[in-house]
Amino acid sequence: MARIHSGMFSSHVPAIGAAVDLGKTGDDYWKPLFAGYEYSKRWIAENLPDVVVLVYNDHASAFDLRMIPTFAIGCAERYPIADEGWGPRPVPEVEGHPELAAHIAQSVILDEFDLTIVNEMAVDHGLTVPMTLMFGQVERWPVRVIPVAVNVVQYPAPTGHRCFELGKAIRRAIESYDQDLTVQVWGTGGMSHQLQGPRAGLINKVFDNAFLDRLGPDPETLAKTPHVEYLREAGSEGVELVMWLVARGALGEKVVQKHRFYHVPASNTAVGHMILEAA
Ligand code: DHB
Ligand code: FE
Repeated sequence: MARIHSGMFSSHVPAIGAAVDLGKTGDDYWKPLFAGYEYSKRWIAENLPDVVVLVYNDHASAFDLRMIPTFAIGCAERYPIADEGWGPRPVPEVEGHPELAAHIAQSVILDEFDLTIVNEMAVDHGLTVPMTLMFGQVERWPVRVIPVAVNVVQYPAPTGHRCFELGKAIRRAIESYDQDLTVQVWGTGGMSHQLQGPRAGLINKVFDNAFLDRLGPDPETLAKTPHVEYLREAGSEGVELVMWLVARGALGEKVVQKHRFYHVPASNTAVGHMILEAA
């Protein structure tokens, strides 16, 4: 049987990927940010899963206004790296797990969560930056990845509650897969940030830390946070945090917190990071 071992939560700021790619991680600006992931790199080396179900959002790289799936699951063998305007990041292609992905798609859709099945797509910073933060610069990623893309770019995004319930359905799917696989579920994006308009640059440490406080012990009520509260308190891109609730839903009720980190700013964004193991 496949088993969910843990969840990893992290912001996915593109400038973090550029800092690694351009050899700037030792700069004064970046040092404290990367220090917050030192524990995580050791932890994942000791707890390397077979597969990561990676919940992220596409930023008009694979999808755009012509096609906006609310929830999409990647069922491909491999995913090329998106060109986001500066050429693709110099990171390896992402290897998928089509068998487990197809099983999750079947289980979750028959469980009444209507995913879009995607057999071909490029993946952007939303997926690759958390990979880089956890694995560093590698020739080949040490895990297979099942991308789960959530629309948080074009209104209306799914509610936090819907995301949390989808996570629970993903857990049921994984636990009913008949091969012995260890799986992690990652939630990316957030924390508070707003990239445009008069409030561009907004960061809200109080809101972010309250979210981090509640994610482990109190996800049911956290999942009831309405969109307007994310928008008001965490900025227009703060709504990316609903993706953390998919991953949290997949972990089951009880979790053990292994790591928590918060740093402001990285580019325009507050960076939050947490590791929770399923108890
Ligand atoms: C930034 C953050 C994001 O989450 C993103 O998708 C793009 C840019 C930023 O802070 O620069
Ligand atoms: Fe983003």
